[in-house]
Amino acid sequence: MNFDILTIFPEYFDVLKSGLIGKAIESGKFSVNIVNIRDFSQDKHFKTDDTPYGGGAGMVMTPDPLVRAIEGTDPNHNAKRIYLSPKGRTLNQKVVQELAKEERLMFVCGNYEGIDERVIELCIDDEISIGDYVLTGGELASLVCLNAVARYIDGVLHSSESTSEESFSTNLLEYPQYTRPAEYRGLKVPEVLLNGNHKEIAKWRYEKSLEITKERRPDLLDKDEK
Ligand code: ADE
Repeated sequence: MNFDILTIFPEYFDVLKSGLIGKAIESGKFSVNIVNIRDFSQDKHFKTDDTPYGGGAGMVMTPDPLVRAIEGTDPNHNAKRIYLSPKGRTLNQKVVQELAKEERLMFVCGNYEGIDERVIELCIDDEISIGDYVLTGGELASLVCLNAVARYIDGVLHSSESTSEESFSTNLLEYPQYTRPAEYRGLKVPEVLLNGNHKEIAKWRYEKSLEITKERRPDLLDKDEK
C-alpha cells in the first residue's frame, strides 16, 4: 500500500517516524510520499492561495498548484484521491476498512477556507471528514485516516486479533483490559480474568462490552442486537 499526502505543511508529517507506524514504514510494510504543493506553484513567490470570488473572510487555495501536484504525483490516476474536508462523509471503522482495500490512497490537505471547487470536480474521488468540528487544515485529518487504515495492513500490528475484537469492528465498544499487578491501589482485577476459563472470560467480556455500549453509545446498538 502506498499513501501520497499533498500538503503545504510537510513538517506536520514528521510524526510518521514514531511508534508502530514509524516501524512499519521503516520495514517497508507500506510507504508514504509527502508532496509539497508549493513545489508545483508557478508563481514567483510560490503562492498557493488567493482571496475568494464573491468576497468573504480568509483565503482559498488556488487550483493550478493543486491540480499540477495531484496530476504530477498520480499521472495515470491509480490512486483513490481523497480530499479531507468537514463537508465530506464521516470517517468510521467501516469507511476505514473500505479504504484499506485500496492499493494506493492520496490525501489532499486543504487549508484556510478550503480549496477551489474545480479541483474537486477535476481530480477528487472522495471527500472525508474526521468528525463534526472544523480544523485549521486537512493535515491532522489525513494523519488520522492514515493511522486508522495502516492498522489493517499486514505486519503493522502484532496480531490479527487486534483489529477483529476491538471497539467498532462488532458495533460494540471494547471490554475493559487489565494487566499486572492483580491488585493496584486497592483495586482488584475481576476474578474471572484470573481463572483461565476462556469460555467464562469470553462471556464476561461480551457482557461488559454490551453494558458499556448501552451506557455510552446506545446508537451503536441500533445497528447490532439490542
Ligand atoms: N479539515 C478541516 N476540518 C476537517 C475535518 N473535520 N475533517 C477533515 N478535514 C478537515
